[in-house]
Amino acid sequence: MNTEANDDQGTGTDRGGLPEDLHDDDQAGAHGERDDHRRGDHGRGHGFSTRAIHVGQDPEPRTGAVIVPIYQTSTFAQPRVGEHTGYEYGRTGNPTRTALQECLASLEGTDEAVCFASGLAAEDAIFRLLSPGDHVVMADDVYGGTWRQIAQVHSRFGIEVSAVDLGDLDAVAAAFRPTTRLLWAETPSNPLLKILDLTALAQLAHDHGARLVADNTFATPYLQQPYDLGADLIVHSTTKYIGGHSDVVGGAVCTDAATAAELAFLQNAVGAVPGPFDAWLTLRGAKTLGVRMDRHCSNAAAIASFLSTHDRVTRVRYPGLADDPGHDLAAKQMSGFGGMVSFQVGSIALAKQVAEATELFFLAESLGGVESLIEHPGIMTHASVAGTLLEVPDDLLRLSVGIEDVDDLLADLERALG
Ligand SMILES: Cc1ncc(COP(=O)(O)O)c(C=O)c1O
Repeated sequence: MNTEANDDQGTGTDRGGLPEDLHDDDQAGAHGERDDHRRGDHGRGHGFSTRAIHVGQDPEPRTGAVIVPIYQTSTFAQPRVGEHTGYEYGRTGNPTRTALQECLASLEGTDEAVCFASGLAAEDAIFRLLSPGDHVVMADDVYGGTWRQIAQVHSRFGIEVSAVDLGDLDAVAAAFRPTTRLLWAETPSNPLLKILDLTALAQLAHDHGARLVADNTFATPYLQQPYDLGADLIVHSTTKYIGGHSDVVGGAVCTDAATAAELAFLQNAVGAVPGPFDAWLTLRGAKTLGVRMDRHCSNAAAIASFLSTHDRVTRVRYPGLADDPGHDLAAKQMSGFGGMVSFQVGSIALAKQVAEATELFFLAESLGGVESLIEHPGIMTHASVAGTLLEVPDDLLRLSVGIEDVDDLLADLERALG
């Protein structure tokens, strides 16, 4: 029989199907040993951008190519029956994907990363760790697709969910049930940019025998390190800042070795893998994450302060503003306030008018690319939560502030606001 089904993969004993020779041997345990998780850095303690450019990305041994090749192959020749090079079949593993996984694990400070075809595929794999009757406490302000997935897909298979304001720690404590397995946080949240206390949430989750999932898409590992704050699984839509150029869809889960092995098993069994070229594009984006985030942050800060003084703007949501409810916590938990700014303009009519009037800010879903985007969450990204507890204000606009020249962005918004 051929090995496509790869039934041996991902049993929890083979380190998730990731080849042995591409791993550090000093795997730290899941918890309590979080001080040296810079995988692939061989304990050299390199900084973030050095790791983004180098970890998992040694020159290709045969030719010396300095860039990890796109291994565009579905299968790998095997020297003998039952022996392989570490790679057997493209769903199970691919060297370009391995390079990306090693790099992301290093950036998040976790043992492993498992990359998926999209952020929602990564989330789906996390929910598949659960069994019928298990319960999830989820933030009441998450990406609409995350809510849609658990409320409309996994609920059909017996997973239960409660939406809770995770900023209210008493409400969180009260929401746990004996069956609660996951506490799901997104911070800064999409689209209201609420800031959640990951340290306190990790403590609460662990006190109740649950694990904390942190969606780190908006902050990125450059600005926030949830694993160090106690989160157990970190999920990303790499489509956003990590890819950074609006040219590829992808997702990742960064976690301990045992959980990564379970996720790799599920991924191989279910199939939502990123293609080699997608992994390569994402890895290319990751190299410049640090420099891009610095510029996203400074541009967003200038825009948030401009909007907060504009007559037609009724409320600005940006954790970098001193009067933002999340400011103090963000200053403690993050090393920068990010590139996302949301604001309200008092009416849905004006919101639509502004969204359609900008020129440099393209009217489009998604975020985190070098170009600036504007969108109306109520009608666009968060339409799937209309009528639920997660419904967002209808006069809300969300900006993904790009890395263009900030004066041009300010002029574009000033003109669009009228
Ligand atoms: C915070 C957040 N998490 C997850 C996702 C889902 O990721 P993807 O679109 O890559 O499936 C998104 C998408 O917008 C998001 O904004």
